[in-house]
Amino acid sequence: MTKLNVHRQAQVNQDDLFLQDIFAGWSAEGQKTLPCKYFYDELGSQLFDKICQTPEYYHTRTELAILAGALPEVARRVGAQADILEFGSGAGIKIRKLIDALTTPRTYIPIDISEEILLASSTRLNQQYPDLAVFPVVADYLSPIQLPEQFSHQPDHKKLVFFPGSTISNFEPKAAIHFMKHIRSLLAVGDALLIGVDLVKPAERILAAYNDAQGVTAAFNMNLLKRIQSSYQTDLKLENFYHQAIYNVERSRIEMHLISKVQQEINLEGQRFCFAEQESIHTENSYKYSIESFQLLARNAGFDCTACYTDVDKLFSVHYLTAS
Ligand code: TRP
Repeated sequence: MTKLNVHRQAQVNQDDLFLQDIFAGWSAEGQKTLPCKYFYDELGSQLFDKICQTPEYYHTRTELAILAGALPEVARRVGAQADILEFGSGAGIKIRKLIDALTTPRTYIPIDISEEILLASSTRLNQQYPDLAVFPVVADYLSPIQLPEQFSHQPDHKKLVFFPGSTISNFEPKAAIHFMKHIRSLLAVGDALLIGVDLVKPAERILAAYNDAQGVTAAFNMNLLKRIQSSYQTDLKLENFYHQAIYNVERSRIEMHLISKVQQEINLEGQRFCFAEQESIHTENSYKYSIESFQLLARNAGFDCTACYTDVDKLFSVHYLTAS
């Protein structure tokens, strides 16, 4: 077993960035916001894994079942000795299925913002797959990242980018195409992107998935406030907010909000922020695509839609896209 070679994105202090982003999101005229990337501290990542296990959250279970059916064909397309790059690798459950299906993949580069989770899962993979070279990258993949040289253009090795979990849904449509183009720029013609995308469906089903009965999604959303509370000097009170998921039909997206129960003033590191009763902090969107609308986006980003796999109920889709 080789020692893990961890790459860390050189960056300014995360705490300073978070505070700047809170100030910006709470000072804006109109809708207050908080960036969703801050969900994923250690507790947030654990809560997210719990969301994936709730009965209402069909995504993970469905995607895993689709992958189980699709992977033999994907493996034939990808061939042997592939170099895999994964954005937001999290607990690393899905990647095992992919590694097991592929013929002797050569390298695996997981990128994740949550260092503890990334290192724990990379260490396990490194032990479990001694022939696979694992190069974890601790980074916010929304900012420019220096990738390990193992992922540079090498014509005899196919590159496969793995982006499951419908994380692409959490980008604004313009940012989604931008990010897909960025992925395309890392690939040579013939390399591939295997990506999971949640599909449009009746609102009740979607709403239930983002507002589970056990309240795990609520705890996940509220954890953003908890993180603010534990990181900074503040009189913020968690009990003054609640979680709300709203389905926005026109924009085909589920929105997550934190709603202020009362009119209140919050002091945070010497700054004062006013919240009206029922005022919301918009924390995240999850856009729902049709197969066609996603394929259009993929083509615009420079991919051929080689294969699309779904479940019988058309809840979720997995696309195998080839760089064209
Ligand atoms: N990308 C997935 C989705 O949009 C997972 C996810 C991201 C999520 N943030 C979430 C799920 C918040 C529930 C709540 O569904």
